[in-house]
Amino acid sequence: MFSRSAVAVTTGMLALSLLTACGSSSGGTDAGGGSKSDKITMGFAQVGAESGWRTANTKSIQSSAADAGITLKFTDAQQKQANQIQSIRSFIQQKVDVIAFSPVVESGWDSVLKEAKDAKIPVILTDRAVDSQDKTLYKTFLGSDFVKEGTKAGDWLVKDSASATGDVNIAEIQGTTGSAPAIDRQTGFKAAIAANPKLKIIASQTGDFTRAGGKQVMEAFLKAHPKQINVVFAHNDDMALGAIEAIEGAGLTPGKDIKIVSIDAVKDGMTALSEGKINYIVECNPLLGPQLMDVAKKVVAGETVPTRIETKETEFDQAAATAALPTRQY
Ligand code: AHR
Repeated sequence: MFSRSAVAVTTGMLALSLLTACGSSSGGTDAGGGSKSDKITMGFAQVGAESGWRTANTKSIQSSAADAGITLKFTDAQQKQANQIQSIRSFIQQKVDVIAFSPVVESGWDSVLKEAKDAKIPVILTDRAVDSQDKTLYKTFLGSDFVKEGTKAGDWLVKDSASATGDVNIAEIQGTTGSAPAIDRQTGFKAAIAANPKLKIIASQTGDFTRAGGKQVMEAFLKAHPKQINVVFAHNDDMALGAIEAIEGAGLTPGKDIKIVSIDAVKDGMTALSEGKINYIVECNPLLGPQLMDVAKKVVAGETVPTRIETKETEFDQAAATAALPTRQY
């Protein structure tokens, strides 16, 4: 197990830091001069602050809520499901108008989602899905197709290694165990690389979506498989960036001695791609805030919304990353 220093510092602390709370929803007038009783209050239970992607996602949600005139009660679960469940229960007690959250892991949500439903508070899933069989427990899912992201990463590798004569050994650095993106990206990637039997995953471990996790996992891989790893598939850019540090620390050249494909396309990842340290990135768009606020208004108004709303995403090679960087928002 790698050490998670940032998390360790806060272990034992209650993970419900109220970052944005624009006051009580009763009485008075809001900044726009409207009656506060018209104003929607949203409880948002965020996963944590594990990656550049997550930071961009949080900013998008906070600024979009302000722009939409929605009062946001925001909590940070520090990547712990128990904290998220506690947040959701607290939102129910506070009688918010709508709850949105990005589930740390896929399983184990039925009870708390039923509590929200019984309290007649609609729930919107953003970014990550749950595996509940009862689809009436939430109104919609808004986010990416993670299987497709894994498939795109695998497809790139199949093309890139088409002329390889021997085995191509892959080390996979997974996201948080049990999370939708870790499960789905692995599924998509494995299915895609099955097209070429020379592509072999020889090591696979979680780096918990953090840079420190990616570095420590890669260091362990390099020790366990000296001179054997040809490619790293990292489930996000932060772990790829950690892997780059480990590869350079071992005296190897990332992007050349060991190729890297990752997912997200945050600025730091795109910079590494532009410098040739990462070879390919599949985009996962964190800017979900505007769409979320729009859907929340509809759901609170009792309108029907699609059960799944997917974000449009693209892919980047070195030239595309270099071209996109000057205007990259996150
Ligand atoms: O759920 C989205 C994933 O979570 C992003 O790819 C990753 O960077 C984040 O931590």
